[in-house]
Amino acid sequence: MESALDWHTAHALLAWQMELGVDEAISDRPVDRFAVEQAAKEQAEAKKAQVAVARAAPAPPPEPQIDAVAEAEKAARGAASLDALQAAMGAFEHCELKRGARSLVFCDGVPGAKVMIVGEAPGRDEDRQGKPFVGKAGQLLDKMLAAIGLSRAESVYITNVVPWRPPQNRDPRPEEIATMLPFLRKHIALAKPEMLIVMGNISCQALLGKRGITRLRGTWTKAEDRPAMPMVHPAYLLRTPAAKREAWADLLAVKARLESLTS
Ligand code: URA
Repeated sequence: MESALDWHTAHALLAWQMELGVDEAISDRPVDRFAVEQAAKEQAEAKKAQVAVARAAPAPPPEPQIDAVAEAEKAARGAASLDALQAAMGAFEHCELKRGARSLVFCDGVPGAKVMIVGEAPGRDEDRQGKPFVGKAGQLLDKMLAAIGLSRAESVYITNVVPWRPPQNRDPRPEEIATMLPFLRKHIALAKPEMLIVMGNISCQALLGKRGITRLRGTWTKAEDRPAMPMVHPAYLLRTPAAKREAWADLLAVKARLESLTS
Protein backbone atom coordinates (compact mmCIF):
# COMPACT_ATOMS: atom_id res chain seq x y z
CA MET A 1 0.00 0.00 0.00
CA GLU A 2 1.35 3.47 -0.90
CA SER A 3 1.77 5.96 1.95
CA ALA A 4 0.93 9.54 1.05
CA LEU A 5 3.67 12.07 1.86
CA ASP A 6 2.74 15.25 3.66
CA TRP A 7 3.67 18.48 1.95
CA HIS A 8 6.66 19.29 4.19
CA THR A 9 8.24 15.85 3.86
CA ALA A 10 7.74 15.84 0.09
CA HIS A 11 9.29 19.28 -0.20
CA ALA A 12 12.28 18.24 1.90
CA LEU A 13 12.74 15.08 -0.23
CA LEU A 14 12.63 17.09 -3.44
CA ALA A 15 15.12 19.61 -2.11
CA TRP A 16 17.42 16.75 -1.09
CA GLN A 17 17.20 15.17 -4.58
CA MET A 18 17.97 18.51 -6.25
CA GLU A 19 20.97 18.76 -3.99
CA LEU A 20 22.11 15.43 -5.33
CA GLY A 21 21.87 16.78 -8.91
CA VAL A 22 18.45 15.54 -10.04
CA ASP A 23 17.16 18.12 -12.53
CA GLU A 24 14.35 16.34 -14.41
CA ALA A 25 11.22 14.41 -13.37
CA ILE A 26 10.71 11.57 -15.90
CA SER A 27 8.07 9.49 -14.24
CA ASP A 28 6.08 9.56 -11.07
CA ARG A 29 7.12 5.97 -10.31
CA PRO A 30 10.53 4.33 -10.32
CA VAL A 31 11.30 1.97 -13.21
CA ASP A 32 12.93 -1.35 -12.48
CA ARG A 33 15.31 -1.57 -15.44
CA PHE A 34 16.34 -5.11 -14.53
CA ALA A 35 12.74 -6.27 -14.72
CA VAL A 36 12.22 -4.52 -18.11
CA GLU A 37 15.31 -6.22 -19.56
CA GLN A 38 14.19 -9.58 -18.22
CA ALA A 39 10.70 -9.20 -19.76
CA ALA A 40 12.19 -8.31 -23.18
CA LYS A 41 14.44 -11.39 -22.98
CA GLU A 42 11.49 -13.62 -22.12
CA GLN A 43 9.44 -12.19 -24.98
CA ALA A 44 12.26 -12.79 -27.50
CA GLU A 45 12.65 -16.35 -26.27
CA ALA A 46 8.93 -17.04 -26.54
CA LYS A 47 8.97 -15.76 -30.13
CA LYS A 48 11.96 -17.99 -30.96
CA ALA A 49 10.14 -20.99 -29.53
CA GLN A 50 7.05 -20.15 -31.62
CA VAL A 51 9.13 -20.01 -34.83
CA ALA A 52 10.81 -23.32 -33.97
CA VAL A 53 7.42 -24.98 -33.46
CA ALA A 54 6.14 -23.60 -36.80
CA ARG A 55 9.27 -24.86 -38.59
CA ALA A 56 9.02 -28.29 -37.04
CA ALA A 57 5.36 -28.67 -38.05
CA PRO A 58 4.81 -30.97 -41.06
CA ALA A 59 4.30 -29.18 -44.43
CA PRO A 60 0.68 -29.18 -45.65
CA PRO A 61 -0.01 -32.05 -48.07
CA PRO A 62 0.65 -31.13 -51.76
CA GLU A 63 -2.35 -30.34 -53.98
CA PRO A 64 -3.48 -33.54 -55.68
CA GLN A 65 -2.04 -33.66 -59.23
CA ILE A 66 -4.63 -34.01 -61.96
CA ASP A 67 -3.86 -36.60 -64.62
CA ALA A 68 -5.17 -34.72 -67.68
CA VAL A 69 -4.87 -37.75 -69.99
CA ALA A 70 -6.83 -39.95 -67.57
CA GLU A 71 -9.49 -37.23 -67.28
CA ALA A 72 -9.70 -36.96 -71.07
CA GLU A 73 -9.98 -40.75 -71.40
CA LYS A 74 -12.81 -40.79 -68.88
CA ALA A 75 -14.67 -37.94 -70.60
CA ALA A 76 -14.19 -39.44 -74.07
CA ARG A 77 -15.28 -42.90 -72.91
CA GLY A 78 -18.53 -41.44 -71.64
CA ALA A 79 -19.45 -39.86 -74.98
CA ALA A 80 -21.82 -42.05 -76.98
CA SER A 81 -22.39 -39.73 -79.93
CA LEU A 82 -20.59 -36.97 -81.82
CA ASP A 83 -22.78 -34.37 -80.12
CA ALA A 84 -21.97 -35.82 -76.71
CA LEU A 85 -18.27 -35.84 -77.60
CA GLN A 86 -18.41 -32.19 -78.63
CA ALA A 87 -20.13 -31.34 -75.34
CA ALA A 88 -17.55 -33.35 -73.35
CA MET A 89 -14.71 -31.52 -75.09
CA GLY A 90 -16.40 -28.19 -74.45
CA ALA A 91 -16.61 -29.01 -70.75
CA PHE A 92 -13.02 -30.28 -70.54
CA GLU A 93 -10.82 -27.99 -68.41
CA HIS A 94 -7.45 -29.76 -68.38
CA CYS A 95 -5.81 -28.43 -71.53
CA GLU A 96 -4.20 -25.00 -71.31
CA LEU A 97 -4.98 -24.26 -74.97
CA LYS A 98 -8.61 -23.74 -74.05
CA ARG A 99 -7.77 -20.61 -72.01
CA GLY A 100 -6.41 -18.69 -74.98
CA ALA A 101 -8.96 -19.74 -77.59
CA ARG A 102 -12.27 -18.19 -78.56
CA SER A 103 -13.97 -21.33 -79.76
CA LEU A 104 -13.91 -25.07 -79.69
CA VAL A 105 -13.26 -26.10 -83.29
CA PHE A 106 -14.86 -29.53 -83.44
CA CYS A 107 -15.58 -30.52 -87.01
CA ASP A 108 -16.90 -29.65 -90.42
CA GLY A 109 -18.30 -31.71 -93.26
CA VAL A 110 -20.42 -34.82 -93.28
CA PRO A 111 -20.36 -37.06 -90.19
CA GLY A 112 -20.13 -40.65 -91.35
CA ALA A 113 -18.36 -39.74 -94.62
CA LYS A 114 -15.97 -42.36 -96.01
CA VAL A 115 -13.04 -39.95 -95.86
CA MET A 116 -12.04 -38.23 -92.64
CA ILE A 117 -9.30 -35.62 -92.68
CA VAL A 118 -7.34 -34.98 -89.51
CA GLY A 119 -5.59 -31.62 -89.57
CA GLU A 120 -3.34 -30.14 -86.93
CA ALA A 121 -4.81 -27.20 -85.01
CA PRO A 122 -7.13 -24.27 -85.68
CA GLY A 123 -5.60 -20.99 -86.77
CA ARG A 124 -7.00 -17.47 -86.39
CA ASP A 125 -9.80 -17.84 -88.96
CA GLU A 126 -10.85 -21.22 -87.63
CA ASP A 127 -10.88 -19.86 -84.06
CA ARG A 128 -13.12 -17.00 -85.20
CA GLN A 129 -15.54 -19.16 -87.16
CA GLY A 130 -15.43 -22.29 -84.99
CA LYS A 131 -14.79 -24.53 -88.03
CA PRO A 132 -11.67 -26.32 -89.22
CA PHE A 133 -9.81 -25.33 -92.40
CA VAL A 134 -11.61 -22.12 -93.30
CA GLY A 135 -8.53 -19.91 -93.82
CA LYS A 136 -6.15 -19.87 -96.80
CA ALA A 137 -4.95 -23.43 -96.20
CA GLY A 138 -8.59 -24.52 -95.97
CA GLN A 139 -9.44 -22.89 -99.28
CA LEU A 140 -6.59 -24.78 -100.92
CA LEU A 141 -7.80 -27.99 -99.23
CA ASP A 142 -11.25 -27.46 -100.74
CA LYS A 143 -9.67 -27.12 -104.21
CA MET A 144 -7.61 -30.26 -103.70
CA LEU A 145 -10.70 -32.22 -102.64
CA ALA A 146 -12.70 -30.85 -105.58
CA ALA A 147 -9.97 -32.08 -107.92
CA ILE A 148 -10.84 -35.68 -106.99
CA GLY A 149 -14.58 -35.08 -106.84
CA LEU A 150 -14.88 -34.66 -103.05
CA SER A 151 -16.23 -31.83 -100.92
CA ARG A 152 -16.90 -31.10 -97.29
CA ALA A 153 -20.50 -30.35 -98.20
CA GLU A 154 -21.08 -33.90 -99.46
CA SER A 155 -18.36 -36.43 -98.94
CA VAL A 156 -15.65 -35.52 -96.42
CA TYR A 157 -15.55 -35.12 -92.65
CA ILE A 158 -12.85 -32.88 -91.11
CA THR A 159 -11.37 -32.39 -87.67
CA ASN A 160 -8.06 -31.47 -86.03
CA VAL A 161 -5.71 -33.02 -83.49
CA VAL A 162 -6.42 -30.20 -81.02
CA PRO A 163 -9.69 -28.26 -81.03
CA TRP A 164 -8.31 -24.96 -79.67
CA ARG A 165 -6.06 -22.49 -81.41
CA PRO A 166 -2.55 -22.50 -79.89
CA PRO A 167 -1.31 -19.00 -79.00
CA GLN A 168 0.51 -17.27 -81.88
CA ASN A 169 -0.24 -20.35 -84.00
CA ARG A 170 2.62 -22.26 -82.38
CA ASP A 171 2.66 -26.04 -82.73
CA PRO A 172 0.62 -27.86 -80.10
CA ARG A 173 2.99 -29.23 -77.44
CA PRO A 174 3.45 -33.00 -76.98
CA GLU A 175 1.58 -32.90 -73.68
CA GLU A 176 -1.32 -31.00 -75.27
CA ILE A 177 -1.47 -33.55 -78.08
CA ALA A 178 -1.35 -36.42 -75.57
CA THR A 179 -4.12 -34.84 -73.49
CA MET A 180 -6.47 -34.39 -76.43
CA LEU A 181 -5.66 -37.69 -78.14
CA PRO A 182 -8.36 -39.74 -76.34
CA PHE A 183 -10.94 -37.29 -77.75
CA LEU A 184 -9.52 -37.58 -81.28
CA ARG A 185 -9.54 -41.37 -81.09
CA LYS A 186 -13.14 -41.36 -79.90
CA HIS A 187 -14.00 -38.85 -82.62
CA ILE A 188 -12.68 -41.22 -85.27
CA ALA A 189 -14.44 -44.20 -83.67
CA LEU A 190 -17.78 -42.36 -83.65
CA ALA A 191 -17.41 -40.91 -87.17
CA LYS A 192 -16.49 -44.38 -88.54
CA PRO A 193 -14.68 -43.28 -91.73
CA GLU A 194 -13.43 -45.89 -94.21
CA MET A 195 -10.09 -44.11 -94.42
CA LEU A 196 -8.16 -41.27 -92.86
CA ILE A 197 -6.10 -38.51 -94.41
CA VAL A 198 -3.49 -37.59 -91.85
CA MET A 199 -2.52 -34.06 -92.73
CA GLY A 200 0.84 -32.70 -91.58
CA ASN A 201 3.45 -33.56 -88.99
CA ILE A 202 1.38 -32.90 -85.88
CA SER A 203 -1.32 -35.29 -87.09
CA CYS A 204 1.28 -37.94 -87.94
CA GLN A 205 2.78 -37.52 -84.49
CA ALA A 206 -0.64 -37.92 -82.86
CA LEU A 207 -2.01 -40.81 -84.93
CA LEU A 208 1.08 -42.63 -86.20
CA GLY A 209 3.44 -41.83 -83.34
CA LYS A 210 6.05 -40.39 -85.70
CA ARG A 211 6.98 -37.23 -87.56
CA GLY A 212 8.71 -36.73 -90.89
CA ILE A 213 5.80 -36.06 -93.23
CA THR A 214 7.98 -35.71 -96.36
CA ARG A 215 9.13 -39.30 -95.79
CA LEU A 216 5.76 -40.67 -94.63
CA ARG A 217 3.53 -39.09 -97.27
CA GLY A 218 2.23 -41.12 -100.13
CA THR A 219 2.37 -44.53 -98.45
CA TRP A 220 -0.76 -46.12 -97.03
CA THR A 221 -0.45 -47.03 -93.40
CA LYS A 222 -2.88 -47.83 -90.57
CA ALA A 223 -4.23 -45.55 -87.88
CA GLU A 224 -7.06 -46.30 -85.48
CA ASP A 225 -7.65 -49.61 -87.26
CA ARG A 226 -8.28 -48.14 -90.69
CA PRO A 227 -6.25 -47.22 -93.76
CA ALA A 228 -4.51 -43.89 -93.40
CA MET A 229 -2.78 -41.75 -95.99
CA PRO A 230 -0.27 -39.23 -94.61
CA MET A 231 -0.23 -36.07 -96.73
CA VAL A 232 1.64 -32.79 -96.53
CA HIS A 233 -0.37 -29.98 -95.02
CA PRO A 234 -1.98 -27.47 -97.42
CA ALA A 235 -0.25 -24.66 -95.48
CA TYR A 236 3.05 -26.28 -96.54
CA LEU A 237 1.83 -26.41 -100.14
CA LEU A 238 1.10 -22.67 -99.99
CA ARG A 239 4.72 -22.06 -99.02
CA THR A 240 6.16 -24.77 -101.29
CA PRO A 241 4.11 -24.98 -104.48
CA ALA A 242 6.59 -27.47 -105.96
CA ALA A 243 5.28 -30.08 -103.48
CA LYS A 244 1.83 -29.95 -105.13
CA ARG A 245 2.86 -32.66 -107.60
CA GLU A 246 3.35 -35.15 -104.78
CA ALA A 247 0.17 -34.03 -103.06
CA TRP A 248 -1.68 -34.67 -106.31
CA ALA A 249 -0.29 -38.19 -106.45
CA ASP A 250 -1.48 -38.76 -102.87
CA LEU A 251 -4.95 -37.46 -103.70
CA LEU A 252 -5.14 -39.87 -106.63
CA ALA A 253 -4.23 -42.71 -104.27
CA VAL A 254 -7.14 -41.68 -102.01
CA LYS A 255 -9.48 -41.51 -104.99
CA ALA A 256 -8.40 -44.96 -106.20
CA ARG A 257 -8.96 -46.47 -102.76
CA LEU A 258 -12.39 -44.88 -102.53
CA GLU A 259 -13.31 -46.27 -105.94
CA SER A 260 -12.11 -49.70 -104.93
CA LEU A 261 -14.61 -49.59 -102.04
CA THR A 262 -17.55 -49.12 -104.36
CA SER A 263 -16.48 -51.46 -107.16
N1 URA B 1 -4.58 -25.94 -90.24
C1 URA B 1 -5.03 -27.06 -89.65
O1 URA B 1 -4.31 -28.03 -89.50
N2 URA B 1 -6.29 -27.08 -89.26
C2 URA B 1 -7.11 -26.06 -89.42
O2 URA B 1 -8.25 -26.16 -89.01
C3 URA B 1 -6.62 -24.90 -90.03
C4 URA B 1 -5.35 -24.86 -90.43
